[in-house]
Amino acid sequence: MTLCSLREVLDHARAGGYGVGAFNVTDIEQVEAVLDAAAATNSPVIVQTIAGASAFASDELYWDLLLRTVDHYPQIPVVVHLDHGPDFETCKRAVDAGFSSVMIDGSLDPVTHKPTSFEANVEVTKRVVAYARERGVSIEAELGTIGGSKDGATHAEIVLADPEEAKRFVEETGVDALAVAIGTSHGAYKFTSPPDGTVLRMDLIETIAALIPDTHLVMHGSSSLPAHLRAVINAHGGGLPESWGVPDEEKARSTKLGVTKINQGMDSHMAYAAAMRVALAEDPLAADPAPAAKAGRAAMSAIIAERMGIFGQAGHAGDYVGTPVREAAALSLA
Ligand code: 13P
Repeated sequence: MTLCSLREVLDHARAGGYGVGAFNVTDIEQVEAVLDAAAATNSPVIVQTIAGASAFASDELYWDLLLRTVDHYPQIPVVVHLDHGPDFETCKRAVDAGFSSVMIDGSLDPVTHKPTSFEANVEVTKRVVAYARERGVSIEAELGTIGGSKDGATHAEIVLADPEEAKRFVEETGVDALAVAIGTSHGAYKFTSPPDGTVLRMDLIETIAALIPDTHLVMHGSSSLPAHLRAVINAHGGGLPESWGVPDEEKARSTKLGVTKINQGMDSHMAYAAAMRVALAEDPLAADPAPAAKAGRAAMSAIIAERMGIFGQAGHAGDYVGTPVREAAALSLA
C-alpha cells in the first residue's frame, strides 16, 4: 500500500476517532523525514506541498521525485496532496503529475490576494472537482480566509467561515474536505498571547461538522510554534518574533469535534532550521550542506513522530483498509 486517496484515509480516521497530520514539505529530505516518522510510528500520513515552494526550479521535477520517494515506503498508507492550489491550472498540473489529492483555494483571488465572492469560490472549486474526481483524485477547498502567509510572500486577513455558507458550499461543490477558517493563521507569527476561545474558535468546528457530517474538516495553521525551537533559531542568528501557536491539546481536541486533517508546516520547518543552524555553527569549516541538512531531517522527523502520537494516527497504518491509488510494486521497489 502506498499512494492512497485523501477521502479513504480520512474516512478511516473518522471511523477510528483519530486525526491525520498533513505535513508540508519543501525538499526531498523533508519528504523522507515525514515518511520515516510515519514508518516509525506505523501511521497513515498526508505529505503536502505548495506549488513553487521548493528550491527546485521545476515543480514537475520535484513532484516526480516526491512521488517516487513515497514508493520506497510500501508499508504505510500515504496521501500526496497539493496544498493551497491557487487556480484550476495548478490543480490540474498536480493531478496530471500523479497526486492523489488537491486543494483548490478559491477563497482568495490569486492575483490580488483579496477574499473572493462565495460564487467565484464555488465556480473554480466545481471546475477542479470535475477534473479531479474523474481521475480518482480527492478534493479539498477553503471557506473563509485563514490568515497569515501561505507561501511566505503574501499575507491574508482572517475571515471566519460561516456555517450556513459551509453547508451550501458543500452541497454545490461536493468536495471531500473543507478547510474552515476558525481564527488560525499560517506561518511563524500567529497569536500575540496564548489563544483562548475568543480567538481560536473551536466552537465553529462543532457547529460546521454538525451541518456537513459527510465532509472532512481541515484545520490549517495548526503549528504550535515551540518556544524552545524559536530560542535555538534566535540564538544562532535568527530573529523570529515571540508568538503563540495552536496548543497541542487543542489540536487533539479538534479531532474529537470534527477535524480529521491537521495541517502543519511551520513546526517542521522550525525543527529543521534550528538543527541546521546549530550544525552549521558547530562546524565553521562546513561548506557541504549535506551534514546540516541531515541534522535538519532527523530533527524534523522527531517532531513529526511526536505529533503523530498527539493526533492519534500512530499505530493505525496496520488497520487501514482502502484501495491504493497506486501500488509501490509499479516501480519494482517493494
Ligand atoms: P502552519 O503555518 O501553522 O504550519 O500551517 C500550515 C498549513 O496550514 C498549510 O496549509
